Amino acid sequence: MTQGKPQILITRALPSAVLDRADDDYVTTINYDDTVFAGNALVAASQGMDGLLISSSEQLTAAVIAELADTVGIVATYSVGYEHIDLVAATARGIVVSNTPDVVTDSTADQAMTLMLGAARRAAEADAMVRAGRWVGWTPTHMLGTHITGKRLGIVGMGRIGQAVARRARGFDLKIHYHNRTRLAVAEEAGAVYHADVDSLLGISDFLSLHCPVTPETSRLLNARRIALLPDGAVVVNTARGSIVDDTALIAALKSGKVGAAGLDVYDGEPALNPEYRTLINTCLAPHLGSATLETRNAMGFRALDNLDAFFAGRDPGDRLA
Ligand code: DGY
Repeated sequence: MTQGKPQILITRALPSAVLDRADDDYVTTINYDDTVFAGNALVAASQGMDGLLISSSEQLTAAVIAELADTVGIVATYSVGYEHIDLVAATARGIVVSNTPDVVTDSTADQAMTLMLGAARRAAEADAMVRAGRWVGWTPTHMLGTHITGKRLGIVGMGRIGQAVARRARGFDLKIHYHNRTRLAVAEEAGAVYHADVDSLLGISDFLSLHCPVTPETSRLLNARRIALLPDGAVVVNTARGSIVDDTALIAALKSGKVGAAGLDVYDGEPALNPEYRTLINTCLAPHLGSATLETRNAMGFRALDNLDAFFAGRDPGDRLA
């Protein structure tokens, strides 16, 4: 520690309000350049640091964690997702890990609705047509989309974000069905129909929205076999993580029309994505913007700092994962 203040590395150029608060309370090293630290670079940058404030882009594998400086006591990730951190390895080294739940819920649910509506109503294709000057006038059958009102929305993963999507979708008169590891209490279900088996959920999902974390069970959950269970022309939305979807299977289904449209915010291997997604007119694509409002990105930063503050005050961070 320098001047009684802990030293923290902030691996990304976070919003200025967050960096200002961090500068007040810590001796900060900030990666204003915003390039993602690969393993060795993060290890080197961790030297002399008491804490790391990282993002979901940095991969804290067991190998990286094993090499972090001995001074590092906490890793606070600026994300709700934490599949990029090996929690077992962190625990083994006595490094505390925290994330930023709650604060990303509303903006991520908004993004799911944006992509659901955008995919159903061909928003990307329509925008491109108008911009390119290809629109020649109104016709009764031009660019017809998928009707939403009264359809069934299947939600995989009914945690905070899944429930926030359900609340919004009720406003569009969608009928809510869900699959979750555990059934919600009746009050939380608010009339949603529980499916203990994800296959059963897929069978009725005119719209399917993914909100589960990445685990060995959910990796490639939406594969060719399960896509075949969807109603013909279903709309698929993914604002969770790219690896939940088998891209080859989804792209084949988008081409055949089995899946009518997809709204995607996240991609396996992002920022690289399967290039075929770009060539399909029935995709509405966003570059991982689920939490991308200034309010949310500030709140994520403040939440990460709250966790760091608690740790350095000798308390348990409220969002402790390990
Ligand atoms: C999250 O909070 O996990 C978002 O996906 C940003 O990484």
